[in-house]
Amino acid sequence: MQTSEKETVNLSSFSRLLHPMHTVLVSCVGKTAKPNIITLAWAMPTSIDPPLVAISIRPERHSHTLIEETKEFVVNIPTMRILRETLFCGRMSGSKHDKFKETGLTPLPARKVKSPIIKECVAHLECKLHSKFTTGDHTIFIGEIVEAYADKEVFSEGEYDLKKAKMIFHIGGNEFATLGTRVFKPKL
Ligand SMILES: Cc1cc2nc3c(=O)[nH]c(=O)nc-3n(C[C@H](O)[C@H](O)[C@H](O)COP(=O)(O)O)c2cc1C
Repeated sequence: MQTSEKETVNLSSFSRLLHPMHTVLVSCVGKTAKPNIITLAWAMPTSIDPPLVAISIRPERHSHTLIEETKEFVVNIPTMRILRETLFCGRMSGSKHDKFKETGLTPLPARKVKSPIIKECVAHLECKLHSKFTTGDHTIFIGEIVEAYADKEVFSEGEYDLKKAKMIFHIGGNEFATLGTRVFKPKL
């Protein structure tokens, strides 16, 4: 039996015990039609039939307002190639920044929703808002996936080629990992 001393974790940091979390870029657009990007570590599938994904967003985020306005969003899957841009979209607010312009990420028209997809990401889940509910200090938006597609080069037969698609995992703060042992700490 393995015995080790257990570190008591402050309850305000409990979520770190669930990290590293697979990190996504959610693109959304409001009534003004200016698109935005928010970085999220709290996202997960919740149903296969119907196909549903849950994202958890604090009410004060600009993206929260946009998703409430148009009731649509896209979950885009970034890789380590755009780690710096991913951090930027998670530190700057679309209320003050044009994140597409400032990061150089490319908006492309989606197939079924108004929000653009992000070209540099390897996969895209287009969502229409199915439901939402408040959980403490976040809102869980449940998206019904109306289209899902991925770059053929990195995704085939239902699986990612992880040598080609280095996914981003958020450890905490400005620290990220990918599948492997190195820890990446980009500087803005
Ligand atoms: C790696 C990372 C993960 C994040 N995950 C979440 C999250 O799950 N939910 C959330 O509300 N904010 C999360 N944030 C913070 C938002 O991305 C950040 O506040 C962003 O600037 C909000 O942009 P907006 O105001 O344009 O919507 C995360 C930030 C980073 C860097």
